[in-house]
Amino acid sequence: MPFMSSDRLAKLYDRIGSLQDTQYFYEDPAMQVLLQFGDFGSACNVYEAGCGTGRVARMLLSQVFAPSCRYLGADLSAKMVTTAHEAIAPWSPRATVVRADVTTYHPDDGPFDRVLSLFVVDLFDPQRIRAFLDRAYGALSDSGLLCIGGLAEGEGGAARLISEVWKRVHDVVPVVVGGCRPGSVIEELDRDRWRIVHVERRCSFGLCSEAAIAAKI
Ligand SMILES: C[S@@+](CC[C@H](N)C(=O)[O-])C[C@H]1O[C@@H](n2cnc3c(N)ncnc32)[C@H](O)[C@@H]1O
Repeated sequence: MPFMSSDRLAKLYDRIGSLQDTQYFYEDPAMQVLLQFGDFGSACNVYEAGCGTGRVARMLLSQVFAPSCRYLGADLSAKMVTTAHEAIAPWSPRATVVRADVTTYHPDDGPFDRVLSLFVVDLFDPQRIRAFLDRAYGALSDSGLLCIGGLAEGEGGAARLISEVWKRVHDVVPVVVGGCRPGSVIEELDRDRWRIVHVERRCSFGLCSEAAIAAKI
């Protein structure tokens, strides 16, 4: 199945970046799970891979993080980085954003006690998911938590139909669905390295997502 290359994804999100936050209706339920079980209030140093417009960062910085908690966001799209930079400016310099491909990037401000990524791994083929998870593993402190969410397959009724149609559209013209393909985040986690602390699926208007929290073994 043809996943989009990093170059194409960067160009796509440069173009549609300003529309990203209209997707909150199916993204927020996964984010709520991570917020509920990720204990972000006690975090000291958080890395967000694929931070988009900085919407999640702004909410965490204004409502959840302790006043000393540091934040680093990374995104491939120059447009997203500029937008996120503006969104988190009130919390600079403890909050920063860089332009980077999270499948190859080694953030040097670690170790981090949370690595957060929402609706990014569903853009990647299995090889790039593994590359990202390797980087996340290296960036996390020994007691840190990986907090990850993505588009999931619907299990029945309309949700199943929608995800089947979505996958077919993706496999023919991935750009139409923003390059995302429903899958399973937890299936990609190597159980010799990761212990699943919590996993939950949420569906909203027929679109399902999976959110997982995992600790290093
Ligand atoms: C669907 S958006 C999700 C944005 C944000 N996490 C949210 O939930 O609102 C996917 C984001 O991943 C970014 N992205 C795609 N491939 C990437 C890569 N290899 N490295 C870093 N960011 C990437 C895109 O530019 C885009 O901002």
